[in-house]
Amino acid sequence: MTDRLESRDKVTGQARYAFEYQVENVAYASAVQASVGKGEVRSVDAEAALRLPGVLAVLSCEDPPRLSDTSDGELALFQSRTVSYRGQFVAAVVGETLETAREGARLVRVEYATETPDVTLRADHPGLYKPDKVNPVFPADTGQGEPEDAFRNSAVRVNVTYTTPAEHNNPMEPHTTLAQWHGDGSLTLYDSTQGASFVQATIAGIFGLDPSQVRVVSPHVGGGFGSKGTPRPNVVLAALAARAVGRPVKFAVPRQQMFATTGYRTPTIQRVRLGADADGRLNAIFHEVFEQTSTVKEFAEQTATPTRVMYQAPNRHTSHRVVALDVPTPSWMRAPGETPGMYALESAIDELAIAVGIDPIELRVRNDTDREPESGLPFSSRNLVACLREGADRFGWDGRDPAPGVRREGRKLIGTGVASSTYPAYLMPSKATARAEPDGTFTVRIAAADIGTGARTALGLIAAETLKADLDQVKVEIGDSSLPRASVAGGSAGTASWGTAVVRACEALRSELNGLVAGGHGGSLHTENGSLPPEGVEASADTTAEIKARDEYARHAFGAQFAEVEVDADTGEIRVRRMLGVFAAGRIINPKTARSQFIGGMTMGIGMALMEESVMDAEFGDYLNRDLAQYHVPACADVRDIDAAWVEESDPHLNPLGSKGIGEIGIVGAAAAVGNAVHHATGIRFRDLPLTPARLL
Ligand code: MOS
Repeated sequence: MTDRLESRDKVTGQARYAFEYQVENVAYASAVQASVGKGEVRSVDAEAALRLPGVLAVLSCEDPPRLSDTSDGELALFQSRTVSYRGQFVAAVVGETLETAREGARLVRVEYATETPDVTLRADHPGLYKPDKVNPVFPADTGQGEPEDAFRNSAVRVNVTYTTPAEHNNPMEPHTTLAQWHGDGSLTLYDSTQGASFVQATIAGIFGLDPSQVRVVSPHVGGGFGSKGTPRPNVVLAALAARAVGRPVKFAVPRQQMFATTGYRTPTIQRVRLGADADGRLNAIFHEVFEQTSTVKEFAEQTATPTRVMYQAPNRHTSHRVVALDVPTPSWMRAPGETPGMYALESAIDELAIAVGIDPIELRVRNDTDREPESGLPFSSRNLVACLREGADRFGWDGRDPAPGVRREGRKLIGTGVASSTYPAYLMPSKATARAEPDGTFTVRIAAADIGTGARTALGLIAAETLKADLDQVKVEIGDSSLPRASVAGGSAGTASWGTAVVRACEALRSELNGLVAGGHGGSLHTENGSLPPEGVEASADTTAEIKARDEYARHAFGAQFAEVEVDADTGEIRVRRMLGVFAAGRIINPKTARSQFIGGMTMGIGMALMEESVMDAEFGDYLNRDLAQYHVPACADVRDIDAAWVEESDPHLNPLGSKGIGEIGIVGAAAAVGNAVHHATGIRFRDLPLTPARLL
């Protein structure tokens, strides 16, 4: 139970975030968004803006700034006159102050040639197509056996369609960049990002620089949830603006502009068909997904991939169809794919349990498997059943009356629900260095990101353990692209990936020190550092080859989510009274921050189940939500009794830590558990999220 290393800095305001860096002579940028949903920019009239005292420059496609790589249409700012979606950045104003820049942006007059945008996802949209692959590398479609026949001949059948809305990540700290060009042509970016190394490489390409000429500094990040996993237009805009005015420029995307420009979860339409025998043994599984991408670039979410992992069935079919609409490009949002996909699958499993007439936990146990159903690979470890059993114990599932709609306390209908969760255990190549300092301390360096996860602390614990040192003897340096190159804080792979590099660097350091210090084998190293050269001793590691050489296993974390809800029969208001998640995610490095990660994900699952919804305005072609008053996320009063636990899991096939990721699995299945509880409470199956009062009544 280790406190975050930076906790004191954070609560005392000492921790610096991108916008808070102080540089001389800084200017501010403000962006102008397209006010039409589709078309061409005819003209940009910057005259009034430029007349405003304090306005330094106006950037737009009237004078396209030079970029070396324009292949990512979301980052190729002001290169073309095409408007691909409403809210796209079409111009920017740089001013002496933030207020001047914003007023200047208001004064820019943009004329458009407009077309009618197509912004509505439908399962019968004529533009739907099969993508070459879904993210990151999975086939769009899979199939085994004779699913249609098997389904037709099954004793018990469920054939249902679920929808999930677009959702926006909304980290507390907006996407922010402070860009500073130097005399030698190099660029420093203080940026709010999940991956400094990735931003460095991307921005170097866009500006035609060598990566060594770009430095990305991001020691503290106020949340990302995937939306900061790839560079957003804010980085390019700040760098372009700074180049244009020859001064450092700050640009923070206002909350109102985030809904169009910093990513969101695609809406989905998901048809699930399950065929089972009278005992609930699955015979056929279908999971057909319809989702959207943009005309700017393809983002094909892997929504049905968890269905390829979860349950046995000899006959199976999964498919993804996407349509390129006139919308912003969807992107990663906490467990992209697994989250909406498992909502549909785990709701359908609940429907099947009711149709078969057996307990939903028992149905899941009956369809457990020790090989990944579609690949046939053995699981490196799979403790789904242990999570379900442990959860049932802790939650008090035994003796549950399965009858829906029969428990009433005054106006409140009460119900409980369960769902499984899963998330892949990815491992990505990274580099790290470990250094023994002459003063007896150690320094570990890696361009990792702590986006609020506790990664810095976990890496400190990992280093201390490997070095047989105390945590307070280890200094962890992260969040800077000048440190050894690291993978992104994404795919729940941060701690495992960076931790592996840190372990290897620390091991290398140990053997170097052992070689240096006579009789230095075994014991504590730091006490012997007195004999080190004045510059200390450093060792480094690169995990690329190690990861490539791993045996083939299906590596996934699993879990079980339990929820108890009360539904106000008069108002349709749903409250989650209790929620419990039990997870099997390998070794837990720091229980304190791990629990926080799990319940954070579960809380986001409550939001998904009950309130989060980005509403498309079909007339204007834009998401209507503009702030956290219109985009509801759970507040403290919405999250009552919530807890997370984990089962012991020892898995030698993962990485030297034995850890699986924990950042995303907490949200997976959470909305299904709530939805299943709502059915148990009311006897009514709602299949369209979120379950707002308006939808229930
Ligand atoms: Mo996460 S959505 O992979 O940053």
